[in-house]
Amino acid sequence: MKRIAVLTSGGDAPGMNACIRAVVRTGLYHGLEVIGVRRGYEGLMDGDFMNMDSHSVSNIIQRGGTILKTSRSERFKTKEGLLEATKKANEAGIEGFVMIGGDGTFKGAEAFCEASGIPCMGAPGTIDNDLFGTDYTIGYDTALNTVIDAVDKIRDTAASHNRLFFIEVMGRDAGYIALNGGVGAGAEEILIPETATDIQELIKHLEEGWKRHKSSVIIIVAEGEKEGGAIEVARKVKEKFDHYDTRVTIIGHMQRGGSPSCFDRVLASRLGVAATEGLIEGRKNESVGLIHNHIAYTPFSQARKHKVDVNEDLIRIGRMLSS
Ligand code: F6P
Repeated sequence: MKRIAVLTSGGDAPGMNACIRAVVRTGLYHGLEVIGVRRGYEGLMDGDFMNMDSHSVSNIIQRGGTILKTSRSERFKTKEGLLEATKKANEAGIEGFVMIGGDGTFKGAEAFCEASGIPCMGAPGTIDNDLFGTDYTIGYDTALNTVIDAVDKIRDTAASHNRLFFIEVMGRDAGYIALNGGVGAGAEEILIPETATDIQELIKHLEEGWKRHKSSVIIIVAEGEKEGGAIEVARKVKEKFDHYDTRVTIIGHMQRGGSPSCFDRVLASRLGVAATEGLIEGRKNESVGLIHNHIAYTPFSQARKHKVDVNEDLIRIGRMLSS
């Protein structure tokens, strides 16, 4: 193997740059040429390539976003798109890929690996933490820190005005950001898609708190919550319980930005090295991950399945400590 390529795809996540840096420097360390693909799979189909030397990844470990840019590509899901990407990769003499992204990225990587015969390895980069084969995805820890920082600030104003706040966090159809961010911020209630939400029960809790003279309340709502997002849940609650002055905040895309935490920088570095060295050792069609602090390899077909095992004990802890 002489030449490999690296790309980022799907939603960006803090730490992707640290992972790009790890892939580039590991490849160079082992005597390979490294190509950067701009704009994810869109750039692969367009042959939008750049040579990566050690200097090209200087000073990026601390930067959010992705210097290679990213995209969500519909074209890459087609047979023609895969053929075009294969042609461009072969013309550039690329013999292996490291793809950094979430489940959509791994789905694309699996299809491309099969269509082109070029070995691909994945590094899990998404704030959602919703992939099998790793305890943590790159960007999740930073997003959690952004969430608790935002909720702490909202709590200041909620307490000053005696208000009830519904705060919506990202995670697509997974509740990891909501559950861990909610416990970390000491939220009174946490609504996630993995467990059924009973609006009547929620109102009962609010009434109990009101009777105990609870002056302000924070309810974290995962964007994938089955009863609806924060606006919808707030509406349903307000219909029957109107004691508090109520506000809704959607934290939104700020959860995707910012300088990665130390945890994410180290995770991204370890996973970038493992993905690249795995490729060199002849691995393909797998995602790297960290399980119980050890590097693990999981076939793409498994890794991209949504985790469903929410931490029941954390739900219990959150309820107990906020009552
Ligand atoms: O997968 C990361 C994520 O931020 C999800 O939490 C969210 O649902 C989605 O991407 C938003 O995507 P977009 O940036 O395309 O609106």
